[in-house]
Amino acid sequence: MNGQRFESMNIQWYPGHMTKARRMIEENVKLVDAVCEILDARIPYSSRNPDIDSLASGKPRLVILNRCDLADPKMTARWSAYFKSLGFAVLETDAKSGKGVGGFAPAIRTLLRDRLKEYEAKGQVGRTLRVMVLGIPNVGKSTLINKVAGRKAAAAGDKPGVTRGRQWIGIGNGLDLLDTPGILWPKFDSQEVGELLAVTNAIKADILDRETLGANFMLRLALYYPEAVRERYKIEPDVQAGGFALLERAARKRGFLVSGGDADLERMANTLLKEYHEGKLGKLTLESPDDRALDAGKRDL
Ligand code: G4P
Repeated sequence: MNGQRFESMNIQWYPGHMTKARRMIEENVKLVDAVCEILDARIPYSSRNPDIDSLASGKPRLVILNRCDLADPKMTARWSAYFKSLGFAVLETDAKSGKGVGGFAPAIRTLLRDRLKEYEAKGQVGRTLRVMVLGIPNVGKSTLINKVAGRKAAAAGDKPGVTRGRQWIGIGNGLDLLDTPGILWPKFDSQEVGELLAVTNAIKADILDRETLGANFMLRLALYYPEAVRERYKIEPDVQAGGFALLERAARKRGFLVSGGDADLERMANTLLKEYHEGKLGKLTLESPDDRALDAGKRDL
């Protein structure tokens, strides 16, 4: 992404209540056999807790790529391959419709087959396997747990950052899930991560400058999915023009003007973000496992 004219913006985030949640996770991880991290398939890198390796403390891991219904299937396949190459089990789901969710218990049993054999060797036949479920706020964790459990076991629709106490959920098949509060981290490793979390509604977009967020998002779309920009907003995805110019052109095409005839950038930015959220731009994934920064652990615009 170097060389593109993304605007810089101030992303402030005060996760005071996250400290307590993090402590709960650290204290309880020793009780489980495996850790399941739920990611947003549209932003598998940015929706990943950067401390996951230390939080999961060497436990076998299942990565769930949720919201597959909104992500680019080709990119989801590539992300799947990427996480498998790191040694994790991977499941692709659309928790809202329930697609892929049936693969959860089999995936855990396969992941823990050696652990099951160890238990059997110790005479603990049929011992319950315990899995901690982690994910950022709003990633679909409650929806997924409820689908897996076949009942309303976790409170869905929580506002980002709402903490809940420890909750064990038996899902049958000898599996118990430990639900955890959705957590974010104190500092994003780049502005891009913060923006992608805002665009996908993991953090409230209204803590950011909406116009700049919209301009940068428009530029990102023009780079990755020029056809979607052309089709939906009837403008040329000219990345050299910059995000604000593209936003302005889209606003004019839509007839979004303020008095005096200037383009209404705020209205266009809000429309763009809303339409992306509603899936009107198509199935779009916003980052790729090829991003050099994945290896470096940090990315700059
Ligand atoms: P959380 O526990 O991780 O905080 O998330 P929760 O299950 O409450 O889900 C947040 C929103 O995301 C819910 O919609 C839920 O229906 C939706 N969702 C969860 N999984 C999927 C999925 O795989 N695909 C799609 N398209 N949506 C999913 P909501 O409360 O109505 O909010 P929203 O839909 O307006 O974001």
